[in-house]
Amino acid sequence: MPYPDDLVPSPDGPLQIEAVDPSLTPLQLSLIVPTYNESQNVAKIIEQLTQLLDDLIPGDYELVLVDDNSPDQTWQVAQALIPQYPQLRVMRRETERGLSSAVIRGWQVAKGEILGVIDADLQHPPEILIQLLHPMRAGTDLAVASRHVSGGGVSDWSIVRRFLSRGAQVLGLLIVPNVVGRVSDPMSGYFMVRRQAIAGPHLNPMGYKILLEVIGRGQIKTIGEVGYVFQEREDGESKVTWKHYLTYLGHLVRLRSRGRIGRLRHQFPVQRFLRFGIVGLSGVVVDMVMLYLLSDPSTLAWGLTRSKVVAAEIAILNNFLWNDAWTFADVAKAQQGWQARAKRFLKFNIICLAGLSLNVLLLNFLFNVVFSQQYRYLANLIAIAVVTLWNFWINLKLSWRVTQVTK
Ligand code: GDD
Ligand code: MN
Repeated sequence: MPYPDDLVPSPDGPLQIEAVDPSLTPLQLSLIVPTYNESQNVAKIIEQLTQLLDDLIPGDYELVLVDDNSPDQTWQVAQALIPQYPQLRVMRRETERGLSSAVIRGWQVAKGEILGVIDADLQHPPEILIQLLHPMRAGTDLAVASRHVSGGGVSDWSIVRRFLSRGAQVLGLLIVPNVVGRVSDPMSGYFMVRRQAIAGPHLNPMGYKILLEVIGRGQIKTIGEVGYVFQEREDGESKVTWKHYLTYLGHLVRLRSRGRIGRLRHQFPVQRFLRFGIVGLSGVVVDMVMLYLLSDPSTLAWGLTRSKVVAAEIAILNNFLWNDAWTFADVAKAQQGWQARAKRFLKFNIICLAGLSLNVLLLNFLFNVVFSQQYRYLANLIAIAVVTLWNFWINLKLSWRVTQVTK
């Protein structure tokens, strides 16, 4: 045996989770801690997790640290902790690499009914575990720690980083809406899932975003979300590079090609969409009237561009107010206060403006390329229909967020 007794050998073969053997007495929770060059964080995170879980479910959990043979010998540092923490297991992988497969290999050797994952670098606050475990014990299939529900956030991110993160989410919504649209923070690497819900299918995750794979291939019926603030890293460094963005894109496309898109039809909120459309029409009327009042020679006689910009912005405000009070009234009620409202308005505004650019691009493309410079009004109609859908869907998911939260 190349492995000393106290290291867990890494499984090979397909990335597939087994149902728990009923002859074993399973543990309640197996929490995977993936590491790469985290030697400075290991002792801290293991101590904090142990303290919390010893209080909550003493003797009924395990921590599985999966290290990819880190050059800083994280695995060795962890191994030295085993005598002190009997519920700690350490896996050193020497052939395979990568965050997502590390998590799955950890789940493969796990004994728990509930399978979880948490980063080792203390950017995921350990206390949230309690709130994740709560819905899981009540029978929820998946509990996700989210930066984008109340109580959630990021500590110190630049506008650029926020924008990149949201951009990735929008891209995901466009490519695999029925996977990415089910949770408010599909990029989260902090969650728990019921073993039953993911036992069976071959998992084939790419890059960092294991949660997408879990939602895309598992049998996830109920989801709980818990807000958390993504902490700043104090020691060690992030392993994310620009290549991860490409990998993410590849993952989306592969999830997409699984032909589950038909299910979208059942999930599409028809009533909301109709209301959104009616509000949209009211906006057209407001825009027209304002344009008349501002630019007509018999009234204010402003320049056309200035009038149009002001008219459009007033129409956007009109639409926002109606959507907030009617189309998404239930969501708005759950997120009261002027700050939450202002935030929704800002998002709505940005999305509508992006929609406007999309409209212009699409109109040009359809008219010039597809219809060889004919049917300009048909082209416009199609562009408007597509952009209305875009506006609706992105606003539904980002401005008035209704994710499938069960409790
Ligand atoms: N075993 C193993 N192999 N672990 C890895 C690898 C790998 O190739 N790459 C990273 N890790 C470990 C890190 O040591 C850390 O514990 C965790 O995975 C997250 O890696 P970071 O490099 O710190 O990622 P981040 O801070 O950008 O976090 C992003 O990804 C997380 C995924 O877990 C964010 O999107 C988080 O929201 C998300 O939770
Ligand atoms: Mn990190």
